[in-house]
Amino acid sequence: MNMPVSANDIVAERMRLAREMLARVRKLADGGVDRDRLKQITVEMQGLAARRDLFPVEEFPPIEGGNASMYRLSEDPDHRFALYVVAPAPGGFTPPHDHDTWAVIVGMHGREHNKLYRRLDDGSEPGVARIEQSGELDVVAGVATALMPDDIHSIHLGDDGPHANLHLYGMSVEHCLQRKMYSRSKNSYKVFPAATGVQKARGAD
Ligand SMILES: [Fe+2]
Repeated sequence: MNMPVSANDIVAERMRLAREMLARVRKLADGGVDRDRLKQITVEMQGLAARRDLFPVEEFPPIEGGNASMYRLSEDPDHRFALYVVAPAPGGFTPPHDHDTWAVIVGMHGREHNKLYRRLDDGSEPGVARIEQSGELDVVAGVATALMPDDIHSIHLGDDGPHANLHLYGMSVEHCLQRKMYSRSKNSYKVFPAATGVQKARGAD
């Protein structure tokens, strides 16, 4: 097996494998994504994320400004199948939120503690939501979490960075306009803005 040696080789190999994976994911998602399909997409993502040598953490420092620290690797012309390296600064916290689309996150570098929540109310009252924690996991190298559009998680970053994980969304985070952020203490939710400040990764499509 020929291992890439130069930075250019790394980018080319990374994009080659990303394109191949995305072609398979588009087929898997054809006709809609349910939890079963999401599991199969997760296996595909774990295959790519296992090539940590193609995602050197030095290439993805945390991004200042904007409301995301994300490098876009690929996104379809209609904004579907958006693949990112997400490199949040150590010590950060993202409150409970959903994604308004399906999402698969696989660890590569660092440790991202995730808490998962279930919704207790029926969603009939605008602005009102009662949630409780239903699980938690550490997203570290090779560990994945897969979320359907209404699934809720929060992210808690240790100080043991740098952190860089691989994320795939059914729709670009810059075009998801109905993502909800939840307050457990207030039993409420608010729609929050689409992501800003996303940067293009080297060699990105
Ligand atoms: Fe999230």
